[in-house]
Amino acid sequence: MSTNPPDDTQHSPAWTVPHAVAPTPDPAREEAEARAVLAEAAAEAAQLRAAAHEPVEPEVRLGPTGRPVPSFPAPPPLLEHGPARVIAMCNQKGGVGKTTTAINLGAALAEQGRRVLLVDFDPQGALSVGLGVNPHELDRTVYNLLMERSVRADDVLLKTNVPGLDLLPSNIDLSAAEVQLVGEVAREQTLTRVLRPVLGDYDIVLIDCQPSLGLLTVNALTAADSVIIPLECEFFALRGVALLMDTIQKVQDRLNPRLELEGILATMYDSRTLHGREVLSRVVEAFGDRVFHTVIGRTVRFPETTVVGEPITTYASTSPGAAAYRQLALEVLAR
Ligand SMILES: Nc1ncnc2c1ncn2[C@@H]1O[C@H](COP(=O)(O)OP(=O)(O)O)[C@@H](O)[C@H]1O
Ligand SMILES: [Mg+2]
Repeated sequence: MSTNPPDDTQHSPAWTVPHAVAPTPDPAREEAEARAVLAEAAAEAAQLRAAAHEPVEPEVRLGPTGRPVPSFPAPPPLLEHGPARVIAMCNQKGGVGKTTTAINLGAALAEQGRRVLLVDFDPQGALSVGLGVNPHELDRTVYNLLMERSVRADDVLLKTNVPGLDLLPSNIDLSAAEVQLVGEVAREQTLTRVLRPVLGDYDIVLIDCQPSLGLLTVNALTAADSVIIPLECEFFALRGVALLMDTIQKVQDRLNPRLELEGILATMYDSRTLHGREVLSRVVEAFGDRVFHTVIGRTVRFPETTVVGEPITTYASTSPGAAAYRQLALEVLAR
């Protein structure tokens, strides 16, 4: 059997130099090439030396809102208390986290040594229930405070199980106030008037509004220094927000020039769904820096806290939900 010798010129790898065309040695060119390699190595070494002495850029941490998260240092302890900054939780949409935010932000602020008063301004009384109070058993509520001249805030105030956290409770009676206040003089200033005597005792007052833009909510906005708008990270989150902003603007123009937007708070956020991330990015697109860096994740722990009647900061102290409201408290105090 005859075999042909392998054809080197066809099958040898591209990098082999066929002996037939071996270059004739050229010392000048070899030296130039060697110099080029040395120069390149020297440049690389210089770069490495420079990098070793350069300060290392701190890694920028982007938060869920897509912006770098600043650090929120713990505030210095207070030597004295009051006068309170009054913040209304407001959104005419129900189920967006107003009450949950009032309770847990309030509890987290109290942990920071702030004296906090929570005002249940929703006839549903969910804020009162969420703090373990049975609204049907109350002799006096915010309703009496608003409608009866002889009743003072101290007569209605309840201490909660959280040190530094007090409550003005409500129940269904409050729904009558909406109608009865209409005939009153300075009907929009009623809450402002009844809260005034206790503002000196607190650092923060949080008013939990009902899901409407009626007279009770206008009273809350008139009594407030600022508004927090919780927005649920769901498809229709932004629906109705223009109307709410319009109401805030009107109250600012006509009744309460000091009213400000404290911030938009994204709630019930699920980072695992594209939908949640999209809604959050649309909210940031619409409101920019008015959106809190702190975002509240969706977790079943919050409904659970309602059942046990205590804040998440005590019920599940080490949970992500508790951590989120603690960070929100620091963010609010830093503003
Ligand atoms: N971050 C959250 N994750 C899951 N459930 C939540 C969260 N925040 C609130 N909830 C639940 O959603 C419901 C509505 O919240 P709530 O605070 O009462 O809203 P609003 O006061 O705006 O009507 C409640 O059952 C509450 O426990
Ligand atoms: Mg509520």
